[in-house]
Amino acid sequence: MEFTHLYSLCILFFFFFTFSVTLSNSATSDVQLLLAKIKPSLQGNKENLVLSSWNTSLPLCQWRGLQWVYSNGSLLSCDTLLTSPQRTNASLYKDPTLQLYSLTLPAAGLSGEIPREIGEFSSLQSLFLGVNSLTGNIPLELAYSVSLADVDFGSNLLNGNLPPSIWNLCDRLVSLRLRGNNFSGLVPEPALPNSTCKNLQVLDLSNNKFEGSFPAFVTKFHGLKELDLGNNMFSGSIPVSLNGLNLEKLNLSYNNFSGVLPVFEESKYNAEVFEGNNPELCGGPLRKCKSGSTGLSSRTIAAIVIGLMTSAVVLASVLIGYVQGKKRKKNRNGNEDDIEEGEEEENDNGDTGEGKLILFQGAEHLTLEDVLNATGQVMEKTSYGTVYKAKLADGGTIALRLLREGTCKDRGSCLPVIRQLGRVRHENLVSLRAFYQGQRGEKLLIYDYFPHKNLHDLLHDTRAGKTMLNWARRHKIALGVARGLAHLHTGVEVPVTHGNVKSKNIIVDEFFMARLTEFGLDKLMVPAVTDEMVAIAKTDGYKAPELQKMKKCNSRTDVYAFGILLLEILMGKKPGKDGRSGEYVDLPSLVKTAVLEETTLEVFDIAVLKGIRSPMEDGLIQALKLAMGCCAPVATVRPDMNEVVKQLEENRPRNRSALYSPTETRSEIGTPY
Ligand SMILES: *[C@@H]1O[C@H](CO)[C@@H](O)[C@H](O)[C@H]1NC(C)=O
Ligand SMILES: *[C@@H]1O[C@H](CO)[C@@H](O)[C@H](O)[C@H]1NC(C)=O
Ligand SMILES: *[C@@H]1O[C@H](CO)[C@@H](O)[C@H](O)[C@H]1NC(C)=O
Ligand SMILES: *[C@@H]1O[C@H](CO)[C@@H](O)[C@H](O)[C@H]1NC(C)=O
Ligand SMILES: *[C@@H]1O[C@H](CO)[C@@H](O)[C@H](O)[C@H]1NC(C)=O
Ligand SMILES: *[C@@H]1O[C@H](CO)[C@@H](O)[C@H](O)[C@H]1NC(C)=O
Ligand SMILES: *[C@@H]1O[C@H](CO)[C@@H](O)[C@H](O)[C@H]1NC(C)=O
Repeated sequence: MEFTHLYSLCILFFFFFTFSVTLSNSATSDVQLLLAKIKPSLQGNKENLVLSSWNTSLPLCQWRGLQWVYSNGSLLSCDTLLTSPQRTNASLYKDPTLQLYSLTLPAAGLSGEIPREIGEFSSLQSLFLGVNSLTGNIPLELAYSVSLADVDFGSNLLNGNLPPSIWNLCDRLVSLRLRGNNFSGLVPEPALPNSTCKNLQVLDLSNNKFEGSFPAFVTKFHGLKELDLGNNMFSGSIPVSLNGLNLEKLNLSYNNFSGVLPVFEESKYNAEVFEGNNPELCGGPLRKCKSGSTGLSSRTIAAIVIGLMTSAVVLASVLIGYVQGKKRKKNRNGNEDDIEEGEEEENDNGDTGEGKLILFQGAEHLTLEDVLNATGQVMEKTSYGTVYKAKLADGGTIALRLLREGTCKDRGSCLPVIRQLGRVRHENLVSLRAFYQGQRGEKLLIYDYFPHKNLHDLLHDTRAGKTMLNWARRHKIALGVARGLAHLHTGVEVPVTHGNVKSKNIIVDEFFMARLTEFGLDKLMVPAVTDEMVAIAKTDGYKAPELQKMKKCNSRTDVYAFGILLLEILMGKKPGKDGRSGEYVDLPSLVKTAVLEETTLEVFDIAVLKGIRSPMEDGLIQALKLAMGCCAPVATVRPDMNEVVKQLEENRPRNRSALYSPTETRSEIGTPY
């Protein structure tokens, strides 16, 4: 129960965080807040002449840098005529209907920090604090603001990372000026992947120390008129989608951008816009790109990837045929001693070109010949490899994953990971039974084969006769997945991050026993491939907002993906970009909208609600909250997988179908070994 409590806190935080404060302006008036919190924070530790005008012994209209609005929406006019009644009214500051509308103190000698309470003004629209000596970071709480539209912190001494919550202001934001500070790190992505910040016209991040690749999400901000990223440490290529923005001003100079410039409308930008970047940056107003330049456009990369995918199929058949031939020859020489058990040994048959097989627990009887004589059938292709269903001579079946050449790290860094993955054994995880590395670097991962469907097809296959998935069954699947992930995160000696949680990577058997595949493979791959995995996770809707590079993936990004998966299970909707319409389906925001509109029950798949008497007592609502908590934009408030398991165990469906029994933990399906 103590967990339930902690958990509701997370949920609360999540909603609080995303919807901003709706309960603001309670007891404290804006005037009180200004005096108690804002003034001391902005003036730092020295008396400030301008701020000293904020004093109740002076009429409100003489307080410098402030504009006020009545709660009926009309601005307080502080007529400059000294005789005007408002200007001289000494008790106006007591008027509770007056709210702060703008705070404009450029070049006012401010030397403190931006106060965290700044987000609490419910009517504050403009915040202009440029050209001061403010230090510290932008407080997370700024994003609680419900009205901020114009923000200027330019030319201060601010530092640290830009808080991801800044994009919570996205809907109302018109200008964001942060130029000339000491901000560093990556520019965070908005929590909602399709944010368009539709009112945003000016984004000025120039003259800071921002790094990483071009923040491509800004190319979705279609209202943008000025974009200045000049004089930072951005690198990589400039996305083609930038030419979709109708900018009046662009400055990308003095970074380390490279590659080929997008094609812009006829001479839209001159060379100055791009000067001072990596000498490799070419195209447009800059020098002509040499053909064969190292800058690859995304289209070229796509072409290469597709090419490699096609050749992978050929490679596989060639490989299997080639080694089979070798093997037969070798068998005639009676040499069978080429199997090891989870141990690496240098191959002694240098002259035969033989590869090596590493066996893990459960595959002790498997021989290289078994594997190479198996007849395969392609099941699935990914950018980094192909999965085959392979029949062994003795009638058993295995799943073979052939990793595409060049996708995998070198053997030295691969093998420790392989051994680690080979030790993982859990009923909700598909076991890696063996690993084969050919002489020319071909790598085959050998897994148990399960004949049943993946969860994606079970949930979204619309053909008639599909398996009925009631809540009891879905709960069993979700709990299985959660247990498998929890085992990876905390049940093994060296924790494993799954890195690729999605419904396509979950195999469900006829008893609704779920098994995760593909775990830990990112650790085997070269950066180019893992970056692609991140991009795919993004398209598929499972990517945590903070995940920019696969090497940053961790248990919390897995939890995020699990949250999306749980929503997918509950809602019966495919997350991410829809293949046909191209529309991005953002499951968490669908739920948020439904919660706000008090139509929460409508988010559930109809099949889920079948036979449910009380969504609360059957654990449905709890599961939805749990999923939303897992998808919290702030990674640190997400529960860990053990908490998720506990929560799912405590909130089980009461109505269990005959097929479902909560005590049943093993399926009857035997493994091939
Ligand atoms: C406000 O102004 C009065 C009169 O000038 C002064 O005595 C008082 O110290 C000021 N209060 C603050 C908090 O600065
Ligand atoms: C709003 O309220 C203020 C003070 O209560 C009043 O002076 C003003 O006329 C009102 N404006 C409108 C448009 O009602
Ligand atoms: C000064 O403002 C207060 C609060 O709005 C109001 O109650 C009072 O009547 C005003 N006094 C004069 C002299 O205008
Ligand atoms: C800027 O931030 C870096 C750390 O990110 C720090 O080392 C440096 O001293 C800061 N520069 C200034 C001028 O504050
Ligand atoms: C994201 O896209 C969906 C569907 O297109 C839309 O309903 C939702 O409002 C969008 N969210 C944002 C923040 O733009
Ligand atoms: C672009 O930004 C750089 C660095 O801030 C500045 O030196 C340069 O003058 C700017 N160029 C234009 C055309 O605004
Ligand atoms: C610029 O990027 C290139 C790679 O594109 C890198 O080798 C170089 O070190 C970078 N330069 C700076 C100053 O960061």
